[in-house]
Amino acid sequence: MFQTLMILLALAAPPGPGENGITVCVPAGHKDLVSAVREIAQVFHHQQGTRVDVVLDARRAEQRSADVYLAFVPNEKQRETVAGKNAKQVARRDRPAGRVLARLQSDTKAAREFWDFLSSLHAQAIWAKWNFHVPMHGDAEAYHKFVSTTLRSTYAATALRMLTETGIREGLCIDVGCGSGLLDIELAKRSRLRIVGLDIDPKMIEAAKATVRAAHLEDRITFVVGDVHQMPFADDSADLIVSRGALPFFQDKVKALREIWRVLKPSGVAFIGGRYLYTPRKYLLSGDELRRIVRQTGIPGAIVVERRGQWVKLVGPEATKKVASFRGGPAMLAHRVLIQSGVSEGDVLALGDRFPQVTQELARLSHFSVTELRLRRRAPGPRGTDKGKPSAADGHSEAAGVHEAKRVARIKQLSGSAESLPFPDQSFDLIISVGELPFWRDKAQVFREVHRVLRPGGYAFLGGRYRHMPSRLKVSSDQLRATLREAGLPNARVLEEMGQWVEIRKQ
Ligand SMILES: C[S@@+](CC[C@H](N)C(=O)[O-])C[C@H]1O[C@@H](n2cnc3c(N)ncnc32)[C@H](O)[C@@H]1O
Repeated sequence: MFQTLMILLALAAPPGPGENGITVCVPAGHKDLVSAVREIAQVFHHQQGTRVDVVLDARRAEQRSADVYLAFVPNEKQRETVAGKNAKQVARRDRPAGRVLARLQSDTKAAREFWDFLSSLHAQAIWAKWNFHVPMHGDAEAYHKFVSTTLRSTYAATALRMLTETGIREGLCIDVGCGSGLLDIELAKRSRLRIVGLDIDPKMIEAAKATVRAAHLEDRITFVVGDVHQMPFADDSADLIVSRGALPFFQDKVKALREIWRVLKPSGVAFIGGRYLYTPRKYLLSGDELRRIVRQTGIPGAIVVERRGQWVKLVGPEATKKVASFRGGPAMLAHRVLIQSGVSEGDVLALGDRFPQVTQELARLSHFSVTELRLRRRAPGPRGTDKGKPSAADGHSEAAGVHEAKRVARIKQLSGSAESLPFPDQSFDLIISVGELPFWRDKAQVFREVHRVLRPGGYAFLGGRYRHMPSRLKVSSDQLRATLREAGLPNARVLEEMGQWVEIRKQ
């Protein structure tokens, strides 16, 4: 009886912070702010075990007695009245314009932890969900505070990725929309690059100079105030151009990308984009919108990379070899093919399914509709003969004919024979085949078939790296050249970089 009474009393008790809890006061009138803070409080409770009671009121007594007090301040004047000791900006909003300030009002450990948590990565993702965001530009000081605490650890990973994706580690690097310079420090630490950061906001440039001074890297990194639409650099002057998080803010993206292309050396590479977790939604672009913009620039070989963020990669005509020479597995092979081909949309045929990751990467990377043809294989007999038995790898019967198997993530799968491709003339813009070529008995016939089903302007890349292939299956590059002559293909050649490849271009 007594126990039941206690439970009832406990249930009826008004919400309060309790022994391990804290109280947070939020203005009742701002629904999004209340929702965001409630959600942040729940996650905090889940992670730290500290209960947070969110009190909705603006009465002075409640404001004062709360451990943390949050307010939405539309202008500087109001900011002064709220700020005072231990107040910090944790989010902001464009419409109606204003900042969310959080004031720490008690010395308890739990209160300070929650106050810190309000600007953590976790909380920022929740703020973004309720249309708040962290300062992106126009507020250099707050931006630097946010990135140098909450995002600091991500800059090293981004720098490393930029260096790996482009293969460029020395020469002149320009960082467009450099902000407060944290990326530049990480790039400098991992390369021999000389870096120039460019930003339209003089205050960002001041913050960046201070960051670099503190890191003692002034001899490697310098800064200039400037606009990406009209960069203060000569044509063909940069080996590497990078940009993180700034692309959505460029007003005329076509012009900006063309300007980056103008400044890039023919042997240079640009990697522009980011993961836009904290960028206000109104600035964000869909993959299709970005592809349209990239097409509009008319830059040959420009590709959109939608992997770990949204990026645009521009590769100078003389950089192909460098980019092609990384050891990066299927993803890099897909990049190599896109860059070499200059094709970034349309229909792709993957001839064979030995390396499905390459096909999947192509499907992910650009705006393609991809067909994968599983090949009925016959292992050739000794070189010079055309005798052959069905190979162990042959899982399909000759009689099965061509059939549509299933659709896997935008990839249409069929089966058929390479010597007699089951497609009408001019069906594909890009054809790729990895690891199949040695198994084709009549290679000249396959090359003719590939040429037949390519559209004018199309590109085929057929071959592989055959380190572990039995030598009886290997073909010399001279033999391949002879086969191409036999096939009568004028715009075909053999490439011997990172493997042995046949490249066919259709005029
Ligand atoms: C989100 S911040 C990214 C800063 C920095 N790259 C980083 O990752 O910390 C975007 C930056 O782009 C700059 N920016 C915006 N428009 C620009 C333009 N037209 N030309 C140059 N910089 C620009 C802003 O001033 C701001 O510093």
